[in-house]
Amino acid sequence: MKGNSAVYAGTFDPITFGHCDIVERALHIFDSLVIAVAEGNKSGGVFSVAERVSLVEQSLAGFADRVRVEAFSGLLVDYAKKRGMSVVVRGLRAVSDYEYESQMAMTNRQLSPDLETIFLMTSWKYSFVSSSTVREVARNAGDVSSLVPDAVTKALMRRFPCQK
Ligand code: COA
Repeated sequence: MKGNSAVYAGTFDPITFGHCDIVERALHIFDSLVIAVAEGNKSGGVFSVAERVSLVEQSLAGFADRVRVEAFSGLLVDYAKKRGMSVVVRGLRAVSDYEYESQMAMTNRQLSPDLETIFLMTSWKYSFVSSSTVREVARNAGDVSSLVPDAVTKALMRRFPCQK
């Protein structure tokens, strides 16, 4: 991948339409993106890192020529440095995201002053979507097809077979 590039890091457990929206917006600014899937899983997570990488790849197949998906462990600043990346993209949905995001961005800046974080606003359509609510709806047999890409809906149906 050539040209200017950024890293979009997250847990993506699972990737949602909100994340896909941020990817599309970032690709208006950057020539390519590396989607960095954090290996550590939050408590209550559903998918292994290999499954999350695969679901991100399937969900973003339409951008395969400009998007590369990788797992990473350890600090994001170290991963970015190793990959020669100097910009991190994060999505913001509402004011409530700001505190957590600013804390993370400032910590990363303290650790690596040359690494810049840029924030993109998610479409209002997806401003309420989160991976944890998707997991909860799926666990309780709800329909998540309006919240996540098809590949994720199918994977959740396999994981929670009682889903409608
Ligand atoms: N649309 C919809 N949902 C969004 C969203 C968007 N645009 N942006 C974020 N979210 C939601 C996710 O669904 C998820 O919801 P949940 O918490 O209810 O499950 C939440 O916001 C955040 O998930 P995600 O976007 O996957 O990111 P994350 O906060 O899990 O990622 C890392 C955090 C991995 C980037 C961060 O922990 C990290 O860098 N870890 C490596 C270790 C490190 O360097 N630590 C020091 C950093 S201070």
